[in-house]
Amino acid sequence: MYNEAKAYLPTAITSDNYPVHKWFNFVAGYSPEYVRMVINDYAKKNSRMPQKIYDPFAGCATTCVVANEYNIPSLGVERNPFFYKIGYTKANADTAIKEVSVICADFKNAITMPFVEGNISKLSSSAQTFLLKLFDSTILEKLLELRYIVETYSGIRYYMGFTLLSKMMEYVTTAKIDGIYRVPTSSKRAMDLFSALTRAENTMLDGFNSIISTKSKSTIVFDSSITYELIPESVDLVVFSPPYLNNFDFAEMTRMQLYFWGEASSWGDISEKHRNHMLVNTTTALKNVRADSQQMILRNSLPNDVLDQIDPIVEQLKLIRKNDHKKKNYDLLIYPYLSQMRDVLIHCYNALTSNGEVHIVLSDAAFYGIHISTEKYIQMLLNSIGFKSSRIELMRSRGDRWLLDKRKQTSKKLGEYEIVAQKG
Ligand SMILES: C[S@@+](CC[C@H](N)C(=O)[O-])C[C@H]1O[C@@H](n2cnc3c(N)ncnc32)[C@H](O)[C@@H]1O
Repeated sequence: MYNEAKAYLPTAITSDNYPVHKWFNFVAGYSPEYVRMVINDYAKKNSRMPQKIYDPFAGCATTCVVANEYNIPSLGVERNPFFYKIGYTKANADTAIKEVSVICADFKNAITMPFVEGNISKLSSSAQTFLLKLFDSTILEKLLELRYIVETYSGIRYYMGFTLLSKMMEYVTTAKIDGIYRVPTSSKRAMDLFSALTRAENTMLDGFNSIISTKSKSTIVFDSSITYELIPESVDLVVFSPPYLNNFDFAEMTRMQLYFWGEASSWGDISEKHRNHMLVNTTTALKNVRADSQQMILRNSLPNDVLDQIDPIVEQLKLIRKNDHKKKNYDLLIYPYLSQMRDVLIHCYNALTSNGEVHIVLSDAAFYGIHISTEKYIQMLLNSIGFKSSRIELMRSRGDRWLLDKRKQTSKKLGEYEIVAQKG
């Protein structure tokens, strides 16, 4: 049943209130309270704590950080290299935090040292063009000096340095944020480097004693959950929020960071090295699944009850594009998205113990006025895989405020849902 007081749960709105969670989070995360609620409900129902938790789309590691708070072992899988490193640091906060003072001392020295020119020229031309729209050139030179210091570190000091500097970048960029995409054309007041360092340091150290005494039992893996297989019957709870259909492009979202950290040197690189290995959820990610033959293979992996619902939608969207070539190829998104989600859910099913549960936070979508009940199709997929007692609850209405112009024709407001299912 819809509960207004819990409508914040699928958002990251409270993350900045808590140690470690505040180290770095983003608009696409859910709140720590959501994961706590799921764990507490499981414990009440089963009269014991879950023995292990899995998050196949770990993002900034909200699930694993909460699992650590409960002293429960957890595993997170994340395919974006930027979020992976942030998540890894947060999931290992008890050891990472011990590195903060050394790193901050190194950064302070470097900031006060005479300015070394020439770092920018080491970046690719696409990275230079993009980053110089987001940072003053002198600030960017210094940030790159700090990056080279971080690259001399190893082990957990490297990850903490990476996270600290990434946090500082948020403060010193002159570009405003739209969701999490940096918009070069809209400007904000940037902090100076010293203030940014002090603020980042304080953010990391807040709650020091509790962080140091919360022993990490988390593993974060850089991989794709579409193919990642876990040890059978090794987890009691799966908790996650996947990329929503036609929502954020999680590779583009981190363009600033991928260029800065040398993870990509061009737009093509971002696709080749990153986006094409992630879940297909936006039309920018279609490269490997565009061909008719590929679409057919993905379609044929889906159960008949899902196909009965989505085949007519795909046909309608195809027709819209046939009549107007400027329209986006949304018709090509639906089979890949559901087929890849099915692969992830099969791995989750195999990994769960007999009384295990999966909890998914997900939104529906609308293309050119055609509503896509993603949550219903995911529930059908769960049932076809063998999950039992599945249910869907509306967590939050995304209302008209959330509707983009192209979606305005739809009469149904978009929402965020929780889908729950049990293995046994
Ligand atoms: C909605 S966010 C998850 C946010 C997370 N619950 C949190 O609170 O931080 C979805 C995440 O899935 C990641 N992702 C996309 N495709 C993936 C794949 N194939 N394997 C693993 N992670 C993937 C994205 O990079 C993004 O970080």
